[in-house]
Amino acid sequence: MQFNLNGSDVEVRSHPMSRLLDVLREELMLTGSKEGCGEGECGACTVLIDGEPVCSCLVPVSQVAGAEVVTIEGLGGKHPLQELFMNEVGAQCGICTPGMIMAALTLPDDPTLDDVKTALAGNLCRCTGYSAIYRAVLKWKKAEVQSGFVDAEVQS
Ligand code: FES
Ligand code: FES
Repeated sequence: MQFNLNGSDVEVRSHPMSRLLDVLREELMLTGSKEGCGEGECGACTVLIDGEPVCSCLVPVSQVAGAEVVTIEGLGGKHPLQELFMNEVGAQCGICTPGMIMAALTLPDDPTLDDVKTALAGNLCRCTGYSAIYRAVLKWKKAEVQSGFVDAEVQS
C-alpha cells in the first residue's frame, strides 16, 4: 500500500488494519508522533492527512492509501513554530509537542486566542498549563512566517 509521507511516496507492508501511528513509528521509524492515550483523546499522535489534523492512533493505515500524510518530521526540525515552542517554554516533557504543532499548523491567519484554544482543544498537555503553548502559537502567526510553510518545509 502506498501513500505520500512528508513529500515522498512510501510503500508499506503492514496489515491494512494496523494503526497509522504504529506504521509510522515501527515500520517507517518516524517516532516523532507520540502515543499518549491510544484512544483519540490526547492528540499526541496528531498528523496531517490531506491537510487535516487527525489522531493517527485511530486511523487504519489502509485509510491513507493514496493520501498525503505529514508528520512532525516533515517540518525538518527548524520550523519557526518549533523554535517558538522552545523559546516560550511551550515544551517541557515534549510528549504533547508534536501533536500540538501539527494541530496548530492548520490555524487560519490572524487567529484570536480563542481560535488557538479551539484548534488545540483536542491536544492535552500535562506539563505547561497551556499558556506558553498558546503564546508560542500566537507569536508564530503574528510573525507572518506561516504562509505555505508545511508544503515548503516538507523534506523530500
Ligand atoms: Fe492518539 Fe492519544 S495517542 S489521541
Ligand atoms: Fe509534557 Fe505537554 S509538555 S505533556
